[in-house]
Amino acid sequence: PVRRAADAAADHPRVYAHRGASAYAPENTLAAVDRADALGFDWVENDVQLTRDGVVVVMHDTDLRRTTNAEELFPDRAPWAVKDFTAAEISRLDAGSWFGPAYAGTRVPTLRQYLKRLGRNGQNLLLEIKSPESYPGIERATLRVLDEEGWLDRSHVRGRLVIQSFGADSVRTVHALRPDVVTGFLGAPTVSELPAYAAFADQINPSYTGLSGGYVTAVHALKGPHGKALQVNSWTVNDAAAARRVEAMGVDGIITNAPDVVRAATRG
Ligand code: G3P
Ligand code: CA
Repeated sequence: PVRRAADAAADHPRVYAHRGASAYAPENTLAAVDRADALGFDWVENDVQLTRDGVVVVMHDTDLRRTTNAEELFPDRAPWAVKDFTAAEISRLDAGSWFGPAYAGTRVPTLRQYLKRLGRNGQNLLLEIKSPESYPGIERATLRVLDEEGWLDRSHVRGRLVIQSFGADSVRTVHALRPDVVTGFLGAPTVSELPAYAAFADQINPSYTGLSGGYVTAVHALKGPHGKALQVNSWTVNDAAAARRVEAMGVDGIITNAPDVVRAATRG
């Protein structure tokens, strides 16, 4: 099929489907990945956490209730935290009905299942380690799955995988364990703090609210651990006007629930 044009043009920001194409399918599921693929988007963003038995699963909230039927299925398991459930229990949850009846029965994918689907689709991954302070060892566990699924080979580490987190220590840990992997820090350190981040992060990925062209330029002036200019990917930009604003600031990428909207706006 003729696709793969979505993030190929160097003169426009790369577009990342946030939690998959999450405006159109339940976030962080295989359905959201497939929707991004159908729309022609190579890059998807996701969030990973650890189950009680140490399995890496794809889920944004640390509380299962917003996007699954955990409370209904396990009424006595307050506060319904991901870390208190086994992978087998999580695999029974319905992670689609909250979004719409068409998605009833959609499952919470393990990272392994998710990577297999991305591989089949030929997609790339911006992986976020979510709430790393709650999950000691999540960096090692995540890297192990990536390695076992072939995602730490040369072709993946050179352009198909980025690991990011709001936790600077987590990004530092990933960089120490696998210095070849491209990493991102989620947030907006001050300009004077940036050099310290450039020691372990190739990307500085801030919210678009409060972002300025001057800040983007200051980030670009630094080189990351792989000797290239730091990149900036901003989130979560879901409307055309905001997409055009951040494009004008010179960002390298835009992370969005509605990748088709952002692409149309920035190619407009
Ligand atoms: O990829 C950036 C963005 O996902 C960070 O915020 O809360 O949506 O994970 P959040
Ligand atoms: Ca995220």
